[in-house]
Amino acid sequence: MITKLILLYTLLYINVSCSMKLEYNKYNHYKYYDIKGDKSELDHLKNFMLHKDDSLLYIGNIKSAQIIVPPELNSAFLEIAKNDKVNATLLFDDISEVIRSEKPSILRSKKKGFSWDAYYDVDDIYNYLSNVSRTYPQWTEVIVGGQTYEGRQIRGIRINTPAAEGVEKPVFFIESGIHAREWIAPATTTYFINQLLTNSNPNVTRLRDQFDWRIFPTVNPDGYHYSYVVDRYWRKTRSISSNGCIGADPNRNWDYNWGQHSSSNDPCDYQLYAGSCPFSEIETKTLSSYISGIDNLLFYVGFHSHAALLLLPYSDSTEHVHNYEDLVQIGKVSLEYGYQVNKVMYSGPGTAAETLYKASGGSMDWVRYALNTPLVYTYELRGSSFHWPPEKIPEQGEEVTQMILGLAIEAENLGYFYSDFS
Ligand SMILES: *[C@@H]1O[C@H](CO)[C@@H](O)[C@H](O)[C@H]1NC(C)=O
Ligand SMILES: *[C@@H]1O[C@H](CO)[C@@H](O)[C@H](O)[C@H]1NC(C)=O
Ligand SMILES: *[C@@H]1O[C@H](CO)[C@@H](O)[C@H](O)[C@H]1NC(C)=O
Ligand SMILES: [Zn+2]
Repeated sequence: MITKLILLYTLLYINVSCSMKLEYNKYNHYKYYDIKGDKSELDHLKNFMLHKDDSLLYIGNIKSAQIIVPPELNSAFLEIAKNDKVNATLLFDDISEVIRSEKPSILRSKKKGFSWDAYYDVDDIYNYLSNVSRTYPQWTEVIVGGQTYEGRQIRGIRINTPAAEGVEKPVFFIESGIHAREWIAPATTTYFINQLLTNSNPNVTRLRDQFDWRIFPTVNPDGYHYSYVVDRYWRKTRSISSNGCIGADPNRNWDYNWGQHSSSNDPCDYQLYAGSCPFSEIETKTLSSYISGIDNLLFYVGFHSHAALLLLPYSDSTEHVHNYEDLVQIGKVSLEYGYQVNKVMYSGPGTAAETLYKASGGSMDWVRYALNTPLVYTYELRGSSFHWPPEKIPEQGEEVTQMILGLAIEAENLGYFYSDFS
């Protein structure tokens, strides 16, 4: 009895402390810098700053690095940057203002409904999908690709216009927003859905009719919601580890070479905790099972930000898959199509291991390895930070639409599928 009471008390206490953590992280007067320098200098600067504040956020890969500096450490940061010969470019002087500007004002959103000049929370995205399925009931439906720790569904939309008799269309799967803070990914994905449904350009309607589309704007909705209402830089899921720390990186949690490169085994790691075991996260476990059940899966495409880069499997090694040359050729055409829109060229295509860094446990590698899916890509969208200006969402939305069109055109040229509209 007493132990039960203690247990109950502990549970209550945990609940209280969890809801306390929901306090909004305002980032008042925090500064967002892009930093450039030699690797050793950047490492030195990073360690120096982390020693002053171990919760400091440092985001780095081979191409670029950024750091988010609280106001009380700003002068120390500028000094060490100068001493280390690191070039620091101030991207945002006060992050809290940027975060406010990303969301629709309450007045405006009531009037206009869902649109592409602001970022929306999960419920609004899901309402948009429902509205789409009500507007086009003959050939769209809301689909459920999995479940989340907090009890949400991973919802997407299936778009499947009628095919000729006896024709089974190839499936084109889009996975977006697996990293919560990369908000431009869900936004361009809903933009693309809207293009498929409303653009009457024959190239786009043809693209729509060629595939059985399964499109998931946010496959980490718990994390996305948390980044929307509490902490803008949240990346992981929201599961609670046995030591009380929260979340795992859902793109390090898939069951392929799990836990080897660019992942952490520390549940408290803010960015890269790979989970307690492969598929420990209900999101990756249920989503992988949904994907496994798809017959005729031809394309699996993931959207992330921000590096302006097209990645091929594997992320985990420099080994080339057997149709690597085709993947490169199709990817190049995709990037050329995208380039036409804004005259900005992405890097790649190439394996993540060769162009960015090795990373294990990602969805792309698992889908390629476990399901042998022929055409698997990861796009790192553009931007110099996680804050892409909301008024410029259509700019990347158009680019993504053209990039996907390029993928389909070159894959058909190479004989990966045939369109049969007879
Ligand atoms: C830093 O900026 C200076 C002046 O613009 C430039 O000459 C130098 O190459 C830059 N260094 C790095 C590492 O980007
Ligand atoms: C639902 O879709 C219709 C047709 O596209 C649109 O006119 C309407 O504004 C949408 N409603 C909401 C709440 O987004
Ligand atoms: C359709 O795509 C072709 C080939 O890329 C292009 O030449 C043509 O202008 C496009 N048509 C329209 C209406 O955009
Ligand atoms: Zn990402």
